[in-house]
Amino acid sequence: MTTHTLTIAYTEVTGKDQLSDSDRNLLNEAWLACDSAYAPYSNFRVGAALELENGMVFKGNNQENAAYPSGICAERVAVFSASALYPGIAITCIAVVAKTDVFNLANPVTPCGACRQVISEYEMLSGKPIRILLQGNSEKIWILDGISNLLPLMFHGSELKK
Ligand code: THU
Repeated sequence: MTTHTLTIAYTEVTGKDQLSDSDRNLLNEAWLACDSAYAPYSNFRVGAALELENGMVFKGNNQENAAYPSGICAERVAVFSASALYPGIAITCIAVVAKTDVFNLANPVTPCGACRQVISEYEMLSGKPIRILLQGNSEKIWILDGISNLLPLMFHGSELKK
């Protein structure tokens, strides 16, 4: 019997002034996207902004629906629209932010499992780690280098090949 141990890592900074200009800009874009989220059912607004290798920025926010499962997360709106319009261009960084008026979010919000899986698909495609920036209602910002820090032992397409 062998027990394997995996390590994940993230960096925490306090305040946007601790970020590089490009990280700060992307985080600001995510906050702009968050403002126009359509989240009347949860009142939990999420915004995402990603940068492609060609410098383009794509934004997304959560889009809810009266038939709850028909809604979609902010991250997937951003990632799918980037891939639909610029297929094959690597995502270098994605910022995800969330806020709610109903309660306080002490820590940054981390992407749900489905969004982690979707982000991993595009990271695998490009072969380069995607930088991930996360923020909630506080000044705290978490920075991760690559989706494996959110989704260790991820499933990917190579496992579908014979
Ligand atoms: N949500 C996101 O947009 N991204 C996540 O990673 C977690 C959850 C949205 C989905 C739903 O509209 C609301 O947050 C509450 O779950």
